Amino acid sequence: MAIYLDTGNISEIERFHRMGIIRGVTTNPTILLSENIVGGLPGIKTRIKDIARLIDPYPLSVEVTTPEREKVIQQALEFASWATNIVVKVTIHGPNGELENVEIIHELETQHHIHINATAAMSAQQCFLAALAGASYTSLFAGRINNMGYNACGEIARLRKLLDLFDLKTQIIAGSTREVLNVLEWLEAGAHVITVVPKILEAMLVHPYTKETVQMFLRDAAIAETKAHPKVER
Ligand code: E4P
Repeated sequence: MAIYLDTGNISEIERFHRMGIIRGVTTNPTILLSENIVGGLPGIKTRIKDIARLIDPYPLSVEVTTPEREKVIQQALEFASWATNIVVKVTIHGPNGELENVEIIHELETQHHIHINATAAMSAQQCFLAALAGASYTSLFAGRINNMGYNACGEIARLRKLLDLFDLKTQIIAGSTREVLNVLEWLEAGAHVITVVPKILEAMLVHPYTKETVQMFLRDAAIAETKAHPKVER
């Protein structure tokens, strides 16, 4: 629902969670590396459990770190055992276009009842197939789509129309936010969720004209305080 935070940084998550404006968190191996979470699963486990506890019951997406079928299943089961609000991210296909991932997504959702976020999708058609396979969420990397010269809003709108038409319950998470305007335009286009990096979420809130107006209010309140209260004749 609405806005997730795309980060592995605890203090950023605490900050926006306290404001009551985020409804989940997404991570990926690149995000965790940028947080210096290294050394394999033990490091990931500690940070992910901390985030999951902090935002419970909101969902936290954590991505598998291997392309091998058996290991993907093993990791998905392990991640899901860390907390009840964990959603496992599996890329829509392998590094060289291997299709096995869709089968794995279907198996994890239908046989193991693990919520899956089919990730790294660059088109509505990939997300639609993830939805047919039963993924709870599908991550469309909308900023990357724009960067390739296509219009992400068009892909989001097309996808949402098809999900609604076929009554598919998969939630669209639009990610790869690059600009402040992405957030509302992608929601208007039909995404269920936008996952936003902290810098952009902060920029959504702060407006130079609001600053100027608040400064005026405070200045005038201070001036008023220095003046005597006029006596009212009764
Ligand atoms: C989404 O779930 C991903 O974590 C993220 O938005 C990808 O962003 P990037 O394109 O900036 O790597």
